[in-house]
Order: sequence, then C-alpha cells, then structure tokens
Amino acid sequence: MERVDITIYGATGFTGHLIAIYLMGKQKDGKESSFTLALAARNLSKLRSKFPSVNETLVSFVEASNDDEQSLHSMCRTTKILVNCVGPFDLYGRAVVKACVEQGCHYTDITGEPKFFREMVQEFHEEAKRKNLKIVPACGYDCIPADMGTLFLLQQLPSQDDFWKNTNVEPKVSVEGCIKAYIPGGPSGGSYITLINSLSSMFQRKSTTKSEKQPTSSPQSKRKRSLSGRPFFSKELKMWIVPFPTADPHIVARSSILNQYFKKGSVPFEYGNYLQLRAFWMVLVYYLFALVFIILCQFSLGRKLLHYIGKQSGEGPTQEQMAASTFSFDLIGRATSSKGKHTIFVSVSGKDLRYGDTAKMCGETVLCMLYDFVLYKPDKAQQSPSPTSLVKGEEQYGVLTTAAALGYPLIHRLNKAGIKFEMKRITFSKHETSQEATGMEKIEHELSKYVYLG
Ligand SMILES: NC(=O)c1ccc[n+]([C@@H]2O[C@H](COP(=O)([O-])OP(=O)(O)OC[C@H]3O[C@@H](n4cnc5c(N)ncnc54)[C@H](OP(=O)(O)O)[C@@H]3O)[C@@H](O)[C@H]2O)c1
Repeated sequence: MERVDITIYGATGFTGHLIAIYLMGKQKDGKESSFTLALAARNLSKLRSKFPSVNETLVSFVEASNDDEQSLHSMCRTTKILVNCVGPFDLYGRAVVKACVEQGCHYTDITGEPKFFREMVQEFHEEAKRKNLKIVPACGYDCIPADMGTLFLLQQLPSQDDFWKNTNVEPKVSVEGCIKAYIPGGPSGGSYITLINSLSSMFQRKSTTKSEKQPTSSPQSKRKRSLSGRPFFSKELKMWIVPFPTADPHIVARSSILNQYFKKGSVPFEYGNYLQLRAFWMVLVYYLFALVFIILCQFSLGRKLLHYIGKQSGEGPTQEQMAASTFSFDLIGRATSSKGKHTIFVSVSGKDLRYGDTAKMCGETVLCMLYDFVLYKPDKAQQSPSPTSLVKGEEQYGVLTTAAALGYPLIHRLNKAGIKFEMKRITFSKHETSQEATGMEKIEHELSKYVYLG
C-alpha cells in the first residue's frame, strides 16, 4: 500500500488543527503542492466536523488512539512522516515514537518536555539510526528559535583551527537565548495541562538523568556554569533577564554533540535560556507566580484547582489574540578565541511565538524533512552535494534535533515563511587591549563570509 506523505496525529487539538490548516494551505500554493496529507485523531466524527471542506483527493481521515496500540501501528504503517500533536508527551508520546520506529516512518512533534526528549534519545536512538529514520522532536516554539538560532549564530564564527588554537587564553563559547514576547490570551489548554504535568514530576528527575546512555548534554555542562542563574539587568538588551527553564538547553546541548559544533568538546560551550522583562516589579511577580504555581503542582488538590481555573483541552487564544502577539528571540553569543573576544547578536522573530508560529515552524519542518531529505536520494547527494543539504552533523538518523537533522535547509525555509533569522551585530575586542577594535569594518567583512544571507 502506498504511504501518504504526511500524517498529523491529534489534528482535533488546538495546535494540531493549526498545523493541519497550515499544511493544507501549502497544498494549494507553490510548486511543492502535490504532497498527500492524512489527518488523524481518536474521534473520527469530531475530526471530520473540524475539517468540513477538504480536498479529499489530497487529504484523508484516519482514526487512531493511544488507547489502542494497534491503531497507532496501522497509522504509522501508512505514512512517510508522522507529526505528533497529542500531549502531554510525557504521558502519550512514547507509544507513538515506538510505533513510528517499528513501522518505519519518520517522526516530528511539538513537545517542549525535556524528560520525554531524554527518554526518547535513550530508548530509540540506536534503533532509529539502524533503520535510517529521522525522529525529530520539539519542532514548535520549543525549541526551534533556540536550536536553529544557535546554529545560525555559531555559523557567524570562523571555523578555522587557528582561530581557536595558539592562545594563552582558554577558548570558550556561550550563548544566551533571551525570549521577548507579547502573548495576550496565555497558553492553550493543552500547553497548560502539559505544564502542570511536567511541574508535578519535576522533583523526580535526577534518577533518570544519571542512567542516560545517549547523552543529551555535552561534557562541558558538567563544568561550573558560567551563565547566570540569577536575574540581572542586561545593558545590551536594556531589559531585566530571568532564567527561564525550558527544554531548549537540552536540545541545544544535544545539537552541539551531534553537529560537533566544537570537535570533541575542544572548546567549552554553554547555552542558557532566559526571559526578558521590562521592569524589576515584573521580575518579582514572575518569581512569586512561579513559586505558587510549582507548589500547587505538587499536590493533587492544587492540581485540581489549577485545572479548574485554567483553559481546557482544545481551547486556546482567539484569532485576534494570536494576531496581536509578537515575539523575538534574541541570542547573544560570546566567544573567546585566539584572536580576542567576539560578541554576536542574533535575532529570531515572528508574529505569534506560540501557536501561529508553532504551526509555521512545525509545518516547515515537516516539509523540509519531506522535500529536502526523505524524497532526496542520499546516493546522489554524496556524488554532488546539494547546496541546500548543508548539515554538518555526522548522524543523519536516530533521535535528533532540528539543527542536526535539517540544519540550514530549515533556516532557509523558515526565513521564507516569515520567521526571520537576522545577524544584528558583531563586536570584537582584542585580548591585549580589551578595547573595541578600531578595524571593525575589516573584521565584520571577514566574518560576513560566514553570515547566512537567506
Ligand atoms: N512546544 C511547543 O512549541 C508547543 C506549542 C503548542 C503546543 N505544544 C504541546 O502540544 C500538545 C498539544 O497542545 P494543544 O494545545 O494542541 O492540546 P489540545 O488542544 O488539548 O489537543 C490535544 C490533542 O490530543 C488528543 N488526545 C488526547 N488524549 C488522547 C489519546 N489518549 N489518544 C489520542 N489522542 C488524544 C486530543 O484529542 P481529542 O480532540 O479527541 O480530545 C487532541 O487532538 C501539548 O503537550 C502542548 O504542550 C507545544
């Protein structure tokens, strides 16, 4: 039986529905319009009612449920790529990844749950690699701006060995990812439920991380952290910066290993995730809110209260609220090399960080996977590498990150879709003088060779 190109599992959910609409829009537009799409959910009549007028030559409906493992296997047997939108992924994700790996289909999802990601790496990386499958979790706002933004930022640094060697100064690189967002309407019901689920088990994590076989973090992460764990005022961004715990650092750390950003850990590399706040009183509110929320998540009564007052599954911000949203994800890279200290400012920006842009990011990820990799013949690629297949990683299959699995072709697609990756500024100071370089133009010219121009 011929497999459909893409299946969206959980298409009745708030985000799954947006991703389906995005991909159906792509079917109508441009030259890559001939892919076939299946929409899957546990309740077929609800699914049909959510998509009343579809082009049935290009879109089909599938019934599948986590309560029926066989249905997951039949769904995965009949598709080339599965997009999983059923969360919380800590609860439902494993069975779906297992079905994909066993039935030989590629996989993406929109998780932002680090525990789920670590467990999938540990359990399925080797098998997926043997079977030449790309399993690429976290293709929404968690974690594409951080992961692809870091890849983009690091490409601005010269990669020659002598840039890093022959120095009395210990080389090192750090990246701070700082989210700035205006998000009226708050999170969707599914995201809210997932957050409560993740926080309720946050104190049980340590035992799992110790037993990891496939590392998601680099050896350098065991070193003393130099990135700040405290709030501070950033003169560069003119904003208050607070640590913002998400899956981003785990994903970026895994990309740094898979992509060998710095060969065999030769240059210590760190990534930290932060939130930008305009005023100090917002920092206090943020900590107070986080404290109360985390405490309530530890008790069943607290969780019931949170579920009662928050949005329900299927609910989310209105179209108007999504249209009014904005985000930018500012990345500041600091590199100490043999030449001196570089500070690089990169921005990833879009319209609605959460759902509209998650649909765009996930939709473009799956199209990139389909058109630039799955339908791309690896043998031909080796003979004459396509200029767009520029992925540095050696591991092309297994449980990967977007930066390792799809690399620059995905940045190219995201740029075209309106998620802008921009190099804002590079500053440089020499070791001897620690002054701003006078020959800035020269250095910028040299570095501009490495700047991706879209
Ligand atoms: N990282 C990111 O960037 C990002 C962005 C958005 C969302 N997310 C995550 O994506 C997930 C979904 O969010 P959402 O807001 O779209 O949630 P939602 O509206 O509650 O949708 C959940 C979907 O899962 C389905 N489902 C639930 N239990 C199921 C089961 N046992 N078997 C089969 N299907 C089942 C639901 O089906 P029914 O319709 O039949 O109930 C629905 O289709 C959450 O984990 C959220 O955190 C992540």
